[in-house]
Formats: sequence, C-alpha cells, structure tokens
Amino acid sequence: MTEENFTNTENIEREATRVLALNDRGNHTIPAAGMYPHTWLWDEVFTDIGLRHLDAQRAALGITSLFRGQWRSGMVPNMIFTKGRLFGHPGFKPDYLMWNSRGLSDDAPRSTATTGITQPPVIAEGIQRVGKNLGSEDRKAFYAATIGKTIAYHQWIYRERNTGDGLMTAVHPWETGMENTPAWMEHMKTIDWGRSTTVLNTIARIAARLRRDTKTVASDERATLEQAVLYADAFLHLRRTHYDHHKLAEQYPLHIQDVHMNSVLIRNNDILQELATDSGDRIPDDLLENISLTRQNINELWNEKDGLFYARDAVTGNSIPIATIACLMPLYSGATSPEQTRRLVEHMANPVSFGLPYPIPTVPTNSPFYHEKRYWSGPSWVNMNWLIADGLRRSGRAEEASKLSSDTLAMVAVGGMKEYFAPHSGQGLGAPDFSWTAGLALDIAQRKESVR
Ligand code: GLC
Repeated sequence: MTEENFTNTENIEREATRVLALNDRGNHTIPAAGMYPHTWLWDEVFTDIGLRHLDAQRAALGITSLFRGQWRSGMVPNMIFTKGRLFGHPGFKPDYLMWNSRGLSDDAPRSTATTGITQPPVIAEGIQRVGKNLGSEDRKAFYAATIGKTIAYHQWIYRERNTGDGLMTAVHPWETGMENTPAWMEHMKTIDWGRSTTVLNTIARIAARLRRDTKTVASDERATLEQAVLYADAFLHLRRTHYDHHKLAEQYPLHIQDVHMNSVLIRNNDILQELATDSGDRIPDDLLENISLTRQNINELWNEKDGLFYARDAVTGNSIPIATIACLMPLYSGATSPEQTRRLVEHMANPVSFGLPYPIPTVPTNSPFYHEKRYWSGPSWVNMNWLIADGLRRSGRAEEASKLSSDTLAMVAVGGMKEYFAPHSGQGLGAPDFSWTAGLALDIAQRKESVR
C-alpha cells in the first residue's frame, strides 16, 4: 500500500465514522437522512458490519432491533417505519399509510409499522460478523436474542416462498434490494396485470407525486417513471392480498427465482448452521432438507452457454436471460463449482462487460440496458462488491478479492460516502452520507488487505 493510499484509508475511516454517527438513531441506523428515514433490513446489517469496529455492542443492538419488525409468520420485513414526529411530516406519511401492515394483516407486529415483504436474507452474516467483535458473555446474549428468530425467518422463506425445489421466490423487485434491475423490469413489462390504461395513468400520476427520491437526487440517477409505475402496480396487487403469502402463491403472477436472493440465502443458511452449532440451537430437519435443496438446485439457474446464472420465472419455468450483477452473485454463495467460479471471474474481469475501472457495474456495459448513472442499471455499489469479495476469498481467490476490495476503497475515496458510483469515473451518485457505504468501506479499510 502506498503512502498516498494509506492517507486515503485514514480519510475513509474518519468519514465513515462521521456518517455512521450522523445516521445513528439509538437502536438502529437509517440509510440516509431525508431520502431514507426508516430502517431497511440489509442496510442495517451492512451498516452494523462496519459499526462493530467502533462499537460492537451498538452494532449488536442494531441487528437485534431488526426483529422488532418480525411478523408472527417469521418474515423479517424489508422496512420498519420510523415512528414519532416523522409520521407527521407530509413527505413520510404515504410510506406508512401505503403499506398499512397492521390494518391489513394479523401477522404483522402490533407495535411497529412495517412493509409486507422482505429483502435478501443477510441477517446471519451480520450476526456472525458482529458476534466476532463481542466478548463471550455479550456474544452469548446476542446469540440468544437473534439466532432462534433467524431460524424462524429462514423457515418462513421455505414455507411461504418456495415452490418445492428449495429455490426462494421473490414477489417484488423491492425484495431484491436492486429495484430497477433490468432482469426484473423487462420481465415485469411482459406480465399482464389486467389494468386499464385509465387506471395505469392514475397510478402513474400518484407515483410521480409520492416519489421522494427525484426531489433530492437528479432524475437520471433514479428509476424512470415507467419503472416506478411497474413497482406501484405490482405493489397494489400485493396489498390486495393483505400480504398473505399463501394467497399470493395462488393469486399473484410475479414469482421470480432471483439469483441474487438465492445466493444470499445459500451463504446465510451455511452461516446459520455454524451459529446454531456455536449457540446450541437446533436447526429443524425440514429446514436442513431445504437448505441442501437450495444449494443443489441453484444449478438449475446456470446457463452453460453464457457462463452465467440467470433468474427464472417460477410460474412459467422460463429463464430470464438478462445479464446483471445478480448473475455473478453465486460467487458469494459458496455453492459454485471451480469451473463456474472460473467463468464468473472471467466475466468480472472482462473490460467490455463487468471489468470497469470502478467495479462492479450492476449491469455490464455491453448490455442494451446499461446506464452509467441510473441506480441499479449500471452504477457500482459497495455492498455488492463486499459480498463478492467475501465469496472470492472463501473460494481461494485471495488476489481477486483483494483487488476488488482496494478498487472499492479507491471508488469511495474518489466519489465520497455516496449511495452508488459511476463505474467509469468513480463519481458518487444518489444519496449523500449513505450508511452502508460508510459501514462496509470501514470494514474493508479495517481488513488492511488493500494492495492498490
Ligand atoms: C433503495 C435500494 C435498497 C435499499 C434502500 C435503502 O431502495 O435499492 O437496496 O435497501 O434504498 O437504502
């Protein structure tokens, strides 16, 4: 590491510490003030993975607090709404009213307002990372407060989001955490939701009015209005079923076996088993069976010709052959064969697709859907890099892992603590002072493996 970059790392640590303090709300950390005033599942985990280096007990509280939103069914929602005066603010009201979780479902927690869907199941990863930084007594208490609930969460996934082959289905692009990712957007355009043009126009008008993001961030960095209408239309269908995931299975046309979500599930299943061994919790037999099915059947999503994993429509069984970073995420799962790993790493390094100066673009540059600034349609994100680097390290690819980590820090040094980054220039995009960028950059910096 050169002197200059060492200085960068120190700056990054200082900046990260500032952002984490700025967004701290006592028992949780919001992703970014203004645009993201609530708790999000995977944001909280990524943030706490960084925060553990500053205050491990506070990081443990952040992860434990996610369960204040857990549904009776076991589901952990992707969002828990901030209570109190924010509800009085005209900009924040719609989120809470829109979902109306307590009004519509008996399964929703009574004391907390949440959404009715989930996000990539990264909680076990967070528990294990944060657990490492705690003393043994605190770790025991932390495990006791979280592992049983995480087992219930994974059981929910298999009970209500599984068509029998162990591959998790997602029902809304918000669940993937990669909202306007082209694989979902293009697929959703092909689904007939049975809406008249008049209804769709009304939805478009409401979506345009309620959107908060384009009021603070340039609109070419966010989802298009057409994409926002797709979200809203699917959401209204979800709401009509009162987030009853059994009803959804029968009445709802959008069930995707998403590569990214299944990759996260596979890795977190493994971690959950390690955690259960440490804590003495028992993983039920049906969960164990499903865990091995997912690991085995992710291979059904492999496309030998392209050397990528593609999402699949669980209703029709059709593959959705659109390349995005999700297709590389099995690198995090730990379930790829050496040959699959080799081919995915080749894609990562290919300068005409994913191998850009500030990696990893969420859509390859040679895709017709690539857009360098638009959210999950091109920009690079620190969390995806962190997950992939972790998987590379575990599959014996230390050199690639360390390059990806140092490229990520270089990107943050250029673009700042922003939400995402332009892959050619490193320009920071989206919300400023973004918590998971801060948390994960801090975690990478602490690892001191950067070689750049
Ligand atoms: C956006 C992102 C999602 C994230 C949320 C809060 O919706 O796409 O992944 O969890 O913002 O940061």
